[in-house]
Amino acid sequence: MKTLIEKINKLKKEKNAIILAHCYQKPEIDFVADFVGDSLKLSQEAAKTNADIIVFAGVYFMAQTAKTLSPEKKVLLPNVHSGCLMADMVNKEQIIEFKKQHPGVTTVCYINTTAEVKAECDICVTSSNAIRVVRALNKDKILFLPDANLGRWIEKNCKGTEVIKYAGCCPTHMDITVSELEKIKKEYPNGVILMHPECSEESLEAADFIGSTTEIMDYVKNSKEKEFIIATELGVMQRLVRDYPDKNFYLATPKAVCPNMKKNNLEDILHVLETEENEIIVEDTLIEKSLLPIRRMLEIK
Ligand code: 13P
Ligand code: SF4
Repeated sequence: MKTLIEKINKLKKEKNAIILAHCYQKPEIDFVADFVGDSLKLSQEAAKTNADIIVFAGVYFMAQTAKTLSPEKKVLLPNVHSGCLMADMVNKEQIIEFKKQHPGVTTVCYINTTAEVKAECDICVTSSNAIRVVRALNKDKILFLPDANLGRWIEKNCKGTEVIKYAGCCPTHMDITVSELEKIKKEYPNGVILMHPECSEESLEAADFIGSTTEIMDYVKNSKEKEFIIATELGVMQRLVRDYPDKNFYLATPKAVCPNMKKNNLEDILHVLETEENEIIVEDTLIEKSLLPIRRMLEIK
């Protein structure tokens, strides 16, 4: 692994490349990453980098968002098959039909959508800024897609805004069920349950804290507690175990693993850096249209 890391770091320098990695990636990717974070942090980094090449260790929509924010850069996805099952639940025709059923309503999309879908929406959110953005919009009603669970969580936290939800979900977070949570809580009764808002409404009732990837990590950092039940993707827990050796972490269920996020590895990163294969191409007109909702989101502080 050492030589692999050395080769990647050398090529990165030679080609003025940066590597952005999501916290759900395999933890060894952090050895070569310039930034590791959640969807919001990574899109902010993609917008401000001076690099010529961005290698995006994440899933397809994330690399597409990076390309939209930095169209003059070459964006490479280590493994082209790393899609997002939730993002795939809504395509351009489906969003157009959803909007047709509710004409004139502001359309808010989760960043976990393709550029084709974003292009049809007014504003975008990530799980860490969704509440802030929707409160700032100050609307009686919004359409939200594709994650119905995140939509419900937004509605709960944005009094006065009705959220009309598209019926999408994240299969990985849906696997964190009430019975799995009951089982693990019985085993570790002192474990503070930290959950991602993509979990189901019933499961979220068990949470001591609900937040995005970064918010969950910050919660651990600022807490005096010593035991935590992590109800989100495995990668978050692996980084917490590494960073807080004096605390104990238990994954809510062994099923909390996003198969697509795990498709990228160090070999793939080296390969795309060497060959510049797997370049993300987004048509100019699509960049123009899908940039608008992302820009609007990034402008809300
Ligand atoms: P974050 O917004 O917390 O990075 O979540 C991204 C994601 O894909 C969650 O499943
Ligand atoms: Fe998509 Fe869920 Fe994987 Fe996140 S964890 S990338 S929402 S399938």
